[in-house]
Formats: sequence, structure tokens, C-alpha cells
Amino acid sequence: MEYAIEIDNLTKKFGKFVAVNNVSFKIKKGDVFGFLGPNGSGKTTVIRMIMGLITPTSGTGKVLGYDVTTESEKIRSHIGYMSQKFSLYDDLTVDENLDFYAGVYKVPKNKINEKKKEILEMADLVGRENMITSNLSGGWKQRLALGCSIIHEPEILLLDEPTGGVDPIARRQFWDIIYELSKKGVTILVTTHYMDEAEHCNSIGFLYYGNILSLDTPNIMKGKIIDGDIVEIKVNDTLKSIELLKAKNGVGDASVYGSGIHAMTEHNTDLEELKGYLTENNIQVTNIKMVRPSLEDVFVFLVEKENKK
Ligand SMILES: Nc1ncnc2c1ncn2[C@@H]1O[C@H](COP(=O)(O)OP(=O)(O)OP(=O)(O)O)[C@@H](O)[C@H]1O
Ligand SMILES: [Mg+2]
Repeated sequence: MEYAIEIDNLTKKFGKFVAVNNVSFKIKKGDVFGFLGPNGSGKTTVIRMIMGLITPTSGTGKVLGYDVTTESEKIRSHIGYMSQKFSLYDDLTVDENLDFYAGVYKVPKNKINEKKKEILEMADLVGRENMITSNLSGGWKQRLALGCSIIHEPEILLLDEPTGGVDPIARRQFWDIIYELSKKGVTILVTTHYMDEAEHCNSIGFLYYGNILSLDTPNIMKGKIIDGDIVEIKVNDTLKSIELLKAKNGVGDASVYGSGIHAMTEHNTDLEELKGYLTENNIQVTNIKMVRPSLEDVFVFLVEKENKK
């Protein structure tokens, strides 16, 4: 079996509201799959269906060959889950949280100490075993939550926005652990709002209000989806320039990007002409060049296209 997770036309309705609409994707064993999409687009709902916590309205899902609707008990023992709110017990110590999850996941007694030692090292928590969890900083808490979710050595990890609210160094440390696990063959589904994290996934699914708008490797997405050019422009007045660009023929959209602007234009844009247009309107253009689309550009493009439908 090549795939760890196979979802086929999964739909979830809450009353008349369609939270997840005919979503299909497959995740290869050992891959890191990035699940992206704005707030409320259905990511957590998909994860909950994969775990068998809620029943799909229609469609099918298989995890390691087990059916998500009829075999969720079997599935859960193979899955590690880190929920959006990190389900740690704040008034327990680090060590007690690990013990608790070892119990929940039925880790054999004679293996618990060895597993705990391994996790404390991985999570950089050695020396903090007896700290009360509520006193840990965000990054440590997050790594402890990850540790608790893998104490039973699951083949699949579902991480729901694991890096929200932690600093860049902690995020990097967290991703180093993700890669290590993936190298060992663990299949990982991770939701994120960070584009740099998405870049590092083997494949990405972009969910938009219940619908998958795109499903591919980051490279293919960047190369194929945008029908036109991306022009990066640096100016003295970003907001005014964006207004001007949006009003111009041949420009599909323009938005703030880093310290400049990314404009989506038709193919073969004449950069001199575009610069002239801004200059005529009293804008000082300090730099203008064609760039390769970033993932962010791709998502902006997809959302614009969807909203025009
Ligand atoms: N039990 C429920 N009953 C009714 N509506 C629900 C329920 N669970 C989720 N929803 C709705 O389904 C939609 C998708 O929610 P979901 O939590 O899956 O989104 P998300 O992509 O995880 O968002 P976020 O990025 O904010 O975590 C939302 O509009 C949400 O309000
Ligand atoms: Mg969510």
C-alpha cells in the first residue's frame, strides 16, 4: 500500500451548511502534507473525519486501509493527533503529562521510561521534567504536546496548526523534529498559515470554504497555476500604487508583498510601460522586475479566481 491516507469525495454538512465539499486527496506514506486554507475553510473538520471523531455526510476515507466510518477504533491506535489547542494538562508536570498520554495510548509499561527519555531529548525538555506545564513557554509547550502525541509511535501524525503563536526559532526547531519523523517513515498531515512551512511540504492541499482549490507539490503549484506574470515593484507610496495598478488594464490584481508590491499581470508585460504609468502618476519607482510566483501569489490568484466565479 503506497498511501497512508486516501480521502475520496468526503463531504460534511452541519445542518444545511456544507463545511467540507467533496474533498479528495491522497498522502503517500512518509510524506509531509501541508493543509492550507483560511479560517473556517474546513481543515479541522477534515482532520476530525479522518480520525473518526465525526462521521462524513458522504464520501469515503481510508487510513492505512481502514475505513474512517467503520474502523475508527483501529485507526486511532495508529494516529498521533495534536489538536489546535494542544490538549495538555496545565496543572500537571511535563513528566506527568507524558505518563498520562502513555496511559491513554496504552504504551507497554516496560517501554514507557525509554520512550519518555527519547521524547524529552527530542523536544529539548531534558531538565524540565518536573516543571508545571502552565509555566512552560509556548515553544516548549508545543514540543511537549507533540511529544505526547507520538509516545505510542504512531505511523501517522495529524497536526492541527501546531506552530501558531510560537516564535521563529521554536518553529524551526519544531519543523526539524517533523523532518526527523518523516525520515523515519511517519506520514504527517499538518495545517498551517505560514507559507515558509508550506514550501517545505512534499505536497499541499489548499482548501477554500470547503473546496479543494489546488492539490500539488509546492513547485508544480508555483510553476503552473498562475496564468500571467508576477511583477515585483518597489515604490515610495505603496498603497497609492496598488490603487493605480488595480485600475490599470492588463493588471489582474496587486497587493502588498514584503516591503513592496506584487502585481499579477498578463503575460509579456512591458515593464518600462508599467513603470512609466506609475511615474506619470507621481510615483517614484525604485525597482521593478519580473519574479517567479511564490506560494502566496498562487493562493491569492486562486482565491481571486474563485471569488470571480
Ligand atoms: N460542530 C459544528 N457545528 C456547526 N458548524 C461547525 C461545526 N464544526 C465546524 N463548523 C463550521 O464548519 C466550518 C469549518 O470549520 P473548521 O473548524 O473545520 O475550519 P478550519 O479550516 O479548521 O478553520 P481555522 O483555520 O480557523 O482552524 C466553519 O464555518 C465552522 O464554523
Ligand atoms: Mg481549524
